[in-house]
Amino acid sequence: MNAPATLETPAAAPPGAPRARILAVTSGKGGVGKTFLSANLAAALALRGLRVLVLDADLGLANLDVVLNLHPKKTLHDVFTGQASLEQAVLPAPGGFSVLLAGSGLVEYSRLTPDVRDKLLAVIGEVTPRFDIVLLDTGAGISDVVLYTVSLADEVLIVATPEPTSMTDAYATIKVLATQQGRRDVKLIVNQVPRSGDGRAVAGQLKQVIDRFVAPPLGNPVELTLIGDVPIDAGVRDAVKKRQLVVQSMPGTPAAQAIVALAARLSP
Ligand SMILES: Nc1ncnc2c1ncn2[C@@H]1O[C@H](COP(=O)(O)OP(=O)(O)O)[C@@H](O)[C@H]1O
Ligand SMILES: [Mg+2]
Repeated sequence: MNAPATLETPAAAPPGAPRARILAVTSGKGGVGKTFLSANLAAALALRGLRVLVLDADLGLANLDVVLNLHPKKTLHDVFTGQASLEQAVLPAPGGFSVLLAGSGLVEYSRLTPDVRDKLLAVIGEVTPRFDIVLLDTGAGISDVVLYTVSLADEVLIVATPEPTSMTDAYATIKVLATQQGRRDVKLIVNQVPRSGDGRAVAGQLKQVIDRFVAPPLGNPVELTLIGDVPIDAGVRDAVKKRQLVVQSMPGTPAAQAIVALAARLSP
């Protein structure tokens, strides 16, 4: 496993220099597993030798730190307000990847002000030359903060569960991304499936509504690619309660193995 990248190298990268692929993890609905998957996928990608950063883009209600049992002294909020450098705020996480954590209970991040916009853009511009993959773990909903964060990503990973409310919100998110941002490629992870393989049916249903209600008015079809599914697993809840990564603490479970397979499918 590679050591997490540090930020000791100079800030400016030459034009055309290699930079991280940026993947936004989003869903519409909350509580579907975005943060759980971001953290565990990052660990699985790091095991493949990739330098991975997870940025907690749930700026006002962050909880990646809770999932990883980290107690950051400096967060993105400190970087945004000039109280910390990026070097101080990018931290190594258990699992061999790096994190940029956000604060919680910060109402100033509930709206996308020009300041937040510029600072988020600048931070992402500065970190991408140092990593192979940057995961943006967004908050729930389709607020302007979430949509802006997703607009900064090269690829969108939608997390949905087989529940009708989650599927409806996933569809609504995809529709907004297609109509407002011109997204034509969206990746899907179906989390909390009763049985491995059940994600196909969820993807099929989503594709049907997208083809019917999103593609025709826009002309070009929206391509939904199923990356895979992750079974619902009581052990996951226990691991989350103990603040452990399932890919580390229970690598033999179907959920951990499914996440390792997702990482393989997402790898270059
Ligand atoms: N595959 C799974 N099996 C069982 N429980 C899960 C699974 N994925 C997520 N969970 C549970 O759902 C909770 C919410 O997940 P979280 O990642 O915080 O959602 P989000 O970031 O989308 O709001 C987790 O704390 C965990 O208990
Ligand atoms: Mg979350």
